[in-house]
Amino acid sequence: MIWDFNFRLPTCIEFGNGKIKKLGERVRELGGTKVQLITDQGIVNSGILRKITDLLQAEQIDFVVYDQVKPNPRDVDCMTAYRQAQEAGVDLLVGIGGGSSMDTAKAVGTLLSHGGDIKDWYGLNVLQHPITPLICIPTTAGTGSEITFFAVVTDTTTKLKMNILDARVAPKIALLDPELTLTLPSHVTASTGMDALTHAIEAYTCNISEPITDALALYAIDQIVKYLPIAVEDGNNLEARKQMLSASLIAGIAFGNSDVGGVHCMAEALGGLYDTPHGVANSMLLPYVFEYNIPSDPEKHAVVAERLGANRQGKSTEEVAHEGVQLLKKLAETVRIPKMKDLEKIDPNDFPYLAEGATKNVSAPSNPRPASKEDYLELFHRAYNG
Ligand SMILES: [Fe+2]
Repeated sequence: MIWDFNFRLPTCIEFGNGKIKKLGERVRELGGTKVQLITDQGIVNSGILRKITDLLQAEQIDFVVYDQVKPNPRDVDCMTAYRQAQEAGVDLLVGIGGGSSMDTAKAVGTLLSHGGDIKDWYGLNVLQHPITPLICIPTTAGTGSEITFFAVVTDTTTKLKMNILDARVAPKIALLDPELTLTLPSHVTASTGMDALTHAIEAYTCNISEPITDALALYAIDQIVKYLPIAVEDGNNLEARKQMLSASLIAGIAFGNSDVGGVHCMAEALGGLYDTPHGVANSMLLPYVFEYNIPSDPEKHAVVAERLGANRQGKSTEEVAHEGVQLLKKLAETVRIPKMKDLEKIDPNDFPYLAEGATKNVSAPSNPRPASKEDYLELFHRAYNG
């Protein structure tokens, strides 16, 4: 069935090896005179930040650096970066890194253009005008944040992940250079790649999917299934890196226009409480939510299972879909994602709190099968004991 839908892509995409060299030119095109580079210590230590500051210096572009972004970015850090930007008179932002750096940059852009506290801007379409111009440079292949309309920020009071959900937080330009992902350690390649896979699967199966996002999501699933194990095993394989960066971008376009669902609702609750890497949390939960959602649309889940490697011959649609559950577990094992039980911090006594958090997630209504707090509680236990 095809119904009415909208599709938006406000971000210009520039993709290719060596594209980072275009940064100065793009800053000037957007009228940037004072840039804030927002990143984390991993990007500093990898030498990527140096490469970028050298480029800006060579082009005589003035900049300041905020390099204290932490995984699962916190509201207090967004406020600190904002104050630095405000004092320096920043008029253009560059987010460099994974989702945490890019989401922090979106939050700072929101604050620079709207003022107030970051808490004032959580929710759907709360912004009043565009944010300060933002260029995003992803260095992981997973988050899709370089293209999406969301910023996820951890509220340090409630320990819940909150969302600024508005097309106006979309970056002006996404500059994707696969060579920047060559230095990613294999465990980060694995977890961020599983995040991208979760984006594609949830974009395809959620209850507001539509034909364009379906096509994008299926393409992304194919590329990730083929290239993620290669990129994890051989980080220097530039072709695999390129395919993964393109797949995560395309999965980002898909879920940015469709949505995610129950996996992200649970993973964000988990990440908010324990700082579990987002992709690890998604990967641990994905098979169980996928299984739970099969009755909502067995055919769509069977299509995903086929893309994961299932064979339809002699099987019912439901059987094929259920094979998908096993194939998701197998893929997570292949790329060495840890089991939930092996993560020391995770305590089943917290599951009622996490289940409650999952029901409050902004994407909860998009899960294709309605899920109550009790359903999420059971899914947390199943994933933990699985
Ligand atoms: Fe995600």
